[in-house]
This record gives sequence, structure tokens and C-alpha cells, in this order.
Amino acid sequence: MKQLKTPFFLIKEKDLQYDISLLKDSLAQNWGNYIAGYSVKTNSLPWLLNYLKNQGFYAEVVSGTEYDLVSRLGFPGKHIIYNGPIKEKKIFERVLLAGGYVNLDSNYELDWMEELSALYPNRHFHVGLRVNCDIGALCPEEELVSEEGGRFGYCYENGVLKAAIGRLSLLPNVWTAGLHLHSSTQSRTVQVYAALAKMAVQIAREYGLSLDYVDMGGGYFGGRDDKPDYRDYFREICKELSAYFTPEKTILIAEPGVSLISRATTFETSVIDIKDIRGRKFVVTDASRTNLNPLVTRHVYPHHMEYISDISVRNIEACQWVCGATCMEYDKLFEIQNDTALLPGDKIIYDTAGGYTMCLNPLFINYFPAVYVAHTDGTLFTAREAWSNDEFLQKNYVEEIS
Ligand SMILES: Cc1ncc(COP(=O)(O)O)c(C=O)c1O
Repeated sequence: MKQLKTPFFLIKEKDLQYDISLLKDSLAQNWGNYIAGYSVKTNSLPWLLNYLKNQGFYAEVVSGTEYDLVSRLGFPGKHIIYNGPIKEKKIFERVLLAGGYVNLDSNYELDWMEELSALYPNRHFHVGLRVNCDIGALCPEEELVSEEGGRFGYCYENGVLKAAIGRLSLLPNVWTAGLHLHSSTQSRTVQVYAALAKMAVQIAREYGLSLDYVDMGGGYFGGRDDKPDYRDYFREICKELSAYFTPEKTILIAEPGVSLISRATTFETSVIDIKDIRGRKFVVTDASRTNLNPLVTRHVYPHHMEYISDISVRNIEACQWVCGATCMEYDKLFEIQNDTALLPGDKIIYDTAGGYTMCLNPLFINYFPAVYVAHTDGTLFTAREAWSNDEFLQKNYVEEIS
């Protein structure tokens, strides 16, 4: 590959294709009747969205901005899954009328369904409801994202979900046709997905629902050999679902984000300088902690090195701190102990990096890094040029002082 100016993200098509096939094969072999969705918020790089569209993926969106983006990129309305607690009424209506998938999450959406039902008496509306259930109680071993549990969807335990289904059932042309069970946990175990699939069965049985689809959401592990993958998740999910549902009637939807792309993405950076300060070595690099972990909470970043020269003649350093390019003291990525001394020109390549942060990247001091795609045939494609002030100055206005 020709020498590219660092820092940049790289997407390896071969690895992306591997995880796409793993997902599709797991859904096809375990259920057959499926929709593969992609969580646009995870990484909304236009190149990636277009690539996934061409692979038959539906776009899972959670905002009007995302809806507009995927529509501009050519996703048809019926290939859009509209989720999230903050929806726009016009888009809500548009997706439903186009035959797309809408998973209701908030109370005001039930009002909108009543209005739509009256406005279009001759149309049939099939909608889903996002389920909020007590995962901590179902899986006491699971590490939750927050102690209080999830905040999305309608609560099963206190009857709010039942009341929402009840309200929809009063509308002659509206059906509760789907359940959406996305939930985020830290531990992402197969058991939690099995418990959620079991919950779909329990809810459908309890409320007599005949469902067009069960949407298991995203949140899976992917791209890590030490963790479960799609084969493990969908084997267990489908085992549970088949207690009540059949593939003939009910579609299984998955909407992964990071698990689909993390194996394929790396972030490549260079060592610029080595500073010796009171016995410590600070390795100054051209990318920042904010490129990889915008909330600057982590000090572990899987990576590998590409050295510019023979390391057999280099010293071993007791302690080297790899630091970022921003002028902030906190911009220190990780410490290397008792290892080869780094030199300017060496490359530090962060593995499985950029799934979220290719787009979830603060415009702080420097702007979005470039993104390249390494195609399976060996060619390189520029998917995004590094942002400059050409982009930053767009739609900014200054006042002339007279
Ligand atoms: C509703 C929904 N679906 C899918 C995803 C994708 O999750 P991940 O990127 O962890 O696979 C998310 C992420 O939070 C989500 O909220």
C-alpha cells in the first residue's frame, strides 16, 4: 500500500465481508426468514452505508438527520427501521406509509398512531413496540450499562407495555405487529439474548400477539476470537423463539452496529517525537485519545506496531507513555513497560478501532481524520478525505465590524 499521511482510519473490505457473511449465514441457517439491519448511528460513513445497502441491509435510524442521510444514499422507505425515543412526526408517517418498520418507544407516538389511524382509514398500519424489561432480574449475572436499567421502550413489569398494546388494539387499522428487544449490556452475553427472546415469547403469549417480526436489536460482540459471535447468539435466540414463533409467519430482525465493522477497522498513527522528562519517556503521536475514545475513559487500546527500523539494535525502555496530538494533559493513551524504545516514524496501529469513533469524533483542535478502504483486490479507495477548514467553515458566518 502506498504511504498515506497519518492519522487515518482504514476499512478492510475482506474483513467486513467476513462479518457480513457470518451475520447473514447465522440468520439464514437458524431462522431463514430474516432482515439484516445496520445501526446507522454506530458509523454513518456514507461509503459504509452505501456498501451495506448494496449488500441488502436495511437502515436502522434514530433521528430525522439519519433518515435524511440514508434516503439521500438511496435506501428505499420500506428498507428503513425507525427507532428511538425522539421521532419526527413527518418522518414517522413517511416511513409507515412507505411500508418501513417503526418501533414505537414513547408515549406521544401512541397519540400519533391514533391520529394516523383516523387520517388514513383505508390504510393498514403494522407497528412494533420497544420492550423495556428488567434484564437485571432475568440475568442477575449480567453487567448492565447503568444500575437503574434501561430507559427505552415501554415497561413490561408495571403494565405500561400492556396499556400501549391495549391502546393500539382499539384502532381498527393498526396492528401490534412487532416487538423490539434491543438492550445494551456491558457483558453482551449469549444468555441475555436468549432471555430477551424468551421474553418476546412470553409477551406474545400473554397478550395474544401474532407478530410479523421480532427485532432483537444490536449490541453483539463481533470481531473478537475470545468472545461469542453471531453463530452463538442466533442459535440460542432462535431456539427460544421457536417455542412460539415460526419463520413462516415471523421475520427475525437484527440491527447490529459495531459487531459488524470492528474487525474490519483500524486507526493508523505515527510517532512524531520522543520527549524525555524527569526519567519518563513521552511518545508524541499524531492522533489523539479523542479519536478513539471521545469520553476519555479508557487506557487500554488494542494495537500493534510497525517499526521504521531494526528493533534488535534499540534499547529497552522501562516506561513509555504514548500521548496524543491535542494540547491537553489528559491526552495520554497507554503506557508501555519494559519494551522496545519507540522512534519517530514508527507506526502505532490501533486494531478493531473506529467502529463508533470514525464518526463519533469531536471536532476538537483537529477535525475528522481520513478514511480509506482496502478493497479485496488490493486497490485503495478514499472514502472520506480528512476534514479541513473547508468543511469547518461551512455555514458559519462572521460579522463585519464597521
Ligand atoms: C436500537 C439500537 N439498535 C442497534 C444498536 C447497535 O448497537 P451495537 O453498535 O452495539 O451493535 C443500538 C446501539 O445502541 C441501538 O440503540
